[in-house]
Amino acid sequence: MPDLRHPLLLAGLSLVLPGTALALPWDVDMVDSPAARGYACWEEGKDDQGNHYCKRGMQPLPEGVVAQQHILSPSALKTPELPKDDLQAWDALQNPLDSSPQVLAKGERMFQIYCTPCHGVPDSEGKIEHLGTVAQPGRMPGVIALTGDDGVLQGRSDGQVYRAIRVGNAIMPSYNWAMTDDEMWSIVTYSRTLDQGAYVPPKPPEPEPADDEEEAEE
Ligand code: HEC
Repeated sequence: MPDLRHPLLLAGLSLVLPGTALALPWDVDMVDSPAARGYACWEEGKDDQGNHYCKRGMQPLPEGVVAQQHILSPSALKTPELPKDDLQAWDALQNPLDSSPQVLAKGERMFQIYCTPCHGVPDSEGKIEHLGTVAQPGRMPGVIALTGDDGVLQGRSDGQVYRAIRVGNAIMPSYNWAMTDDEMWSIVTYSRTLDQGAYVPPKPPEPEPADDEEEAEE
């Protein structure tokens, strides 16, 4: 058994298995994205006396960087993780955001980045005519319309739309690694403006008839 950590073996393997061959069609290749190394010089040059200097250690985060949910980093998610199949528990979640222009703008931006590749681009009236490029034949099967007569958004509570983003569904992947909690909820808020706001929230369940009053009388 060769030692799997041998550098030559690793180098050989990385030639046989290029990252692109393993990537899913909607993934951004890590090799193409900028990398930041914590202990490299992030700024270097010569000071007034002509001495070379190198700034190491914590560097300012590049713009657009988000905290990832990782075993070593504190979670950016405020909404508790619920069991994926407990739809009633997700239904009970309240969207913590208002529908201010800022929230809607953030939601629209996130939707453009993370949802349109599969579900398609909304027009100026919030209608989506075509599914996105990832839903084309030969790519990801099973992508469904969010808006229109069969649009799935009209039948889902806020909590369930949040659920799809947070933990994914049968085929849809989750996006909790990519966004903060507020960003996920902002998509929920924005999604309610699609289809010219055709969504009508489902009525909350009737309260259980209170029979403990009778018990109290006994
Ligand atoms: C990689 C493709 C893909 C992306 C990107 C994607 N979805 Fe989906 N989505 C699907 C597929 C496929 C389904 C239908 C099958 C399923 O439910 O898994 C679906 C279903 C859904 C549903 C219905 C889930 C349910 O309760 O039945 C909602 C809501 C939804 N997507 C919202 C979103 C939102 C919001 C985004 C952006 C954060 C998004 N999707 C991004 C593929 C995608």
